[in-house]
Amino acid sequence: MSPVPARVQIFDTTLRDGEQSPGFSMTAGEKVEMARQLERLGVDVIEAGFPISSPGEFEAARRVAREVSGPTICVLARTAPQDIERAWEAVRDAGRPRIHTFIATSPIHMARKLRMSPAAVLETAAEAVRLARNVAPEVEFSAEDATRSEVDFLCRVFEAAIKAGATIINIPDTVGYAQPDEFGELVRTLIERVPGMDRVTVSVHCHNDLGVATANTLAGIRAGARQVEGTVNGIGERAGNVALEEVIMALRTRPDLYGLTAGVDTSQIFATSRLLCALTGIDVQPNKAVVGANAFAHEAGIHQHGVLADRRTYEIMTPESVGLPTNRLVLGKHSGRHALAAVLEAAGFRLSREDLDRAYQRFKDVADRKKTVLPEEVVALVEEDFAAPPRTWELRRFAVTTGSARDPSASVTLVSGGVETERAATGDGPIDAMFAAINGIVALAPALVDYTVRAVAGGTEAVGEAIVRIRLDHDLSVGRASSTDVLEASARAYVAAINKLVAGRPVPVAAGGSRP
Ligand code: KIV
Ligand code: ZN
Repeated sequence: MSPVPARVQIFDTTLRDGEQSPGFSMTAGEKVEMARQLERLGVDVIEAGFPISSPGEFEAARRVAREVSGPTICVLARTAPQDIERAWEAVRDAGRPRIHTFIATSPIHMARKLRMSPAAVLETAAEAVRLARNVAPEVEFSAEDATRSEVDFLCRVFEAAIKAGATIINIPDTVGYAQPDEFGELVRTLIERVPGMDRVTVSVHCHNDLGVATANTLAGIRAGARQVEGTVNGIGERAGNVALEEVIMALRTRPDLYGLTAGVDTSQIFATSRLLCALTGIDVQPNKAVVGANAFAHEAGIHQHGVLADRRTYEIMTPESVGLPTNRLVLGKHSGRHALAAVLEAAGFRLSREDLDRAYQRFKDVADRKKTVLPEEVVALVEEDFAAPPRTWELRRFAVTTGSARDPSASVTLVSGGVETERAATGDGPIDAMFAAINGIVALAPALVDYTVRAVAGGTEAVGEAIVRIRLDHDLSVGRASSTDVLEASARAYVAAINKLVAGRPVPVAAGGSRP
């Protein structure tokens, strides 16, 4: 019998380091949705937020701690006592809570940002860990900007943190400065030199500023790290954090080299990646490793010939292993729930009966207007529902007139709480007119930050997907919707973005509403 490979713990910080980058913000409900999918993927730790940073961030982290039970739930805190108290308040109800505290240790951060002496940083780090350990069973300590810190000093800080009770020591390449050999060497040196390092879990946290975050993380693992921190799709500050799916699939594809397993259900990778895209409205680049649209596509004749003869000629991992939908079942208006569920399951979506019923209604709606519905179109329809906020407003009907000799105008009817409201407006184009009519109904005038439409599959009959990004005051909101009619998709995406914006606020009352 071959020995069971040792484990590398997967620490997902999509909801903290990932979410804090521009354009990726999520509501508390979306964070819970994402955390549930991370639980299905099987990650060991979910970093749910930085509770002291805002009341909304606190509430979201607390909801994840209370509502998601499988993985350890971790939250971030600086070394200040009030940060640690707030962190504990947010995470204390988790089945397995963890506090993650950090302070910078590089000369430039200590002198220019913290304005603290190295001795004060060392003392503060130990004190923070002590404080956190008084309440939390697991305490992680990070030396921010570790890769630009003096190694002797880093060793002393880590030693003090371990003595104070840290159970996980994290080595961040905060600004993505390190190179793979050098980073591996640093991890090795720290493991050898820091007393007590053998009693804690050694973790690595790499950013991608020079495009080597995955290589650095894998070098850290080879040097002895047994926890890796990263994000889904590699989202995060600046050029992002390491993409966890890349690390996970490298471990799985090269057991000869690493002899370690991440212990996750890799068939959930694609669904996890797509859910994040659906929630944030930001897609991955087509050539992104593991989850990009082209990651398993073979275009060149020689490659196609090879793949037809034996897929292993050009595929080092199978699309099925990451849950990519390879089931080419084409659905149509006579297809039933079972066929729909099969296509969705092949794409990693396991829906509850209720969600499947809703997805089936949406599917029938599209299938009535279109001869065949491709698997990627089915996925787009379901993603829209995943990303759907509470439906304060729903699109009931719309009409648009436009042409070369007339000003575009639109009439839109929305329904809220059973009351229908209709407005007409003109605009620079039909979309602008529709959005203006919707603004009139909801009594808001958000700025349109971005608007895109794309065909989910090829052909003029394809399902079109609209993504709308709007801003009101400081709140950014993203809506997404799919339909065979791009005008309808656009209006529904705009309404979805409005719904997110007004979630938790009192509903503005539009004059002239009527019950249908
Ligand atoms: O990049 C970094 O240094 C961090 C720490 C808070 C771990 O995100
Ligand atoms: Zn980071």
